[in-house]
Amino acid sequence: RTPSQVVVISNRGAYTFQKDHDQLITKRTVGGLTSAVEPVLTAHGGTWISWCGRIDHTGKDRGVKLGIPPAEPRYHIQEVFLSPEEHENYYHGFCNACLWPLCHQLPERCSFERAYWDAYRRVNQKFARITLEAKKGIYWIHDFHLALVPQLLRHRSPGATIAFFWHIPFPPADLFQILPWGRQIIYGLLGSDLIAFHTSRYAQNFLDTVACYYPARIYPEQGLIRLRNRRILVQALPVGINYHRFEQLAADPAVRARAEEIRKSLAAEKVLLGIDRMDYTKGIPERIRAMAYLLEKYPAYRGRVTLLQIAVPSRNGIGEYGTLKREVERIVGEINGRYDQGYGAVPVRYRYQALDQAELVAHYLAADVLLVTALRDGLNLVAKEFVASRIDGKGVLILSPFAGAAQELHGALLANPFEPAHLAAKIKMALEMPFQEQKSRLESLRRIVKSRDVRWWWQSNLMLVKSLGSGLTPAA
Ligand code: G6P
Repeated sequence: RTPSQVVVISNRGAYTFQKDHDQLITKRTVGGLTSAVEPVLTAHGGTWISWCGRIDHTGKDRGVKLGIPPAEPRYHIQEVFLSPEEHENYYHGFCNACLWPLCHQLPERCSFERAYWDAYRRVNQKFARITLEAKKGIYWIHDFHLALVPQLLRHRSPGATIAFFWHIPFPPADLFQILPWGRQIIYGLLGSDLIAFHTSRYAQNFLDTVACYYPARIYPEQGLIRLRNRRILVQALPVGINYHRFEQLAADPAVRARAEEIRKSLAAEKVLLGIDRMDYTKGIPERIRAMAYLLEKYPAYRGRVTLLQIAVPSRNGIGEYGTLKREVERIVGEINGRYDQGYGAVPVRYRYQALDQAELVAHYLAADVLLVTALRDGLNLVAKEFVASRIDGKGVLILSPFAGAAQELHGALLANPFEPAHLAAKIKMALEMPFQEQKSRLESLRRIVKSRDVRWWWQSNLMLVKSLGSGLTPAA
């Protein structure tokens, strides 16, 4: 069944806009949220309310409403503007210097400023206001930027059907309570009918946190909260990918030729690959250090193995991201200076750029081992994309137990990124893994990724919230 009209509300949308003289330039954004959410809108139409990267100096709260894709519109984007102050205090401040590090269990990186919180409240109110003026439908709100929106919508429209998806980890209750405005964030989220997370652990952490702030009745087995006269469902529904698209690209002769070209250019017997946003949660320096450890302990690998690290530019306006970039570049230089033989494979090849989907798949095909060794990660779609792309049955996935995907992807080689010797040992194991074992591990991984693809994900979310709206809530 097709869902009713869907109104998606998220900070980052599928496109960024830029004005060039009188022309509006639209550019697709790359990232998990976009690729997960866009298919439902493309299939069924609807509206996507999002910030499109533009900062307005004149006090306007919204920009253009545009049919997307511009050449052949399938749905609409309603652009939300941020003022320079909101961009600083809401986006850089509360979202990325407060909630982001806190939820990734890095409280020492948080700064709790009153001005950040005030801006967060204002921007959430702005998104809610613009949403209420859009065509009605199922409201589907995404991620930590907009946690207050569900309750703001509920207040003005008590009968609304509201789903929320939290895309990053949800930390243990003890940690969450460090946040001075934790209660308000939880209250905001509880305006939803459905609150979904990637894993059952995050859902459980959320239920524990609710219990700290509110005298709610909680039914963990059913994932149900009863608060005053309302019932709220809390579920684990990990995001999926467009499995067939990745399979198709992996079979495309042009993509395969490009994979060959990448492989040749690296002049390595074995290729390790890392593809991440340049973010301190992704464990990029730790991975490079593990590579150094490997080459130190097993000199036979020098000149034969390369780690190709693609770091996708991200959140450039935030000082810590610049510091991380400099640190990565410094240690890449250090390890290459130390272990490069002057011939054969260079220890680490580093590129700071985004890749489109075809390029991504070509890189997945060019690698022997994919390293997803985040210190903490909500899910990690790169791991799923790699699995879907390896139609040849070859390749090993090394996965951090601290990425949400590890709860799902049985068959990956788990490795603790905090311990260089251990990570290096897992890399060695992956490099030497017999083909039969690679094949059987990939087979089970592919089954999981295929059965819970992106369509399964959005259908589960929207069907579930619709059934709640029609009174089919599990009884408590
Ligand atoms: C994570 C978040 C997304 C966010 C993305 C990129 O995946 O869950 O909500 O859009 O990072 O970060 P940015 O700050 O550029 O939107």
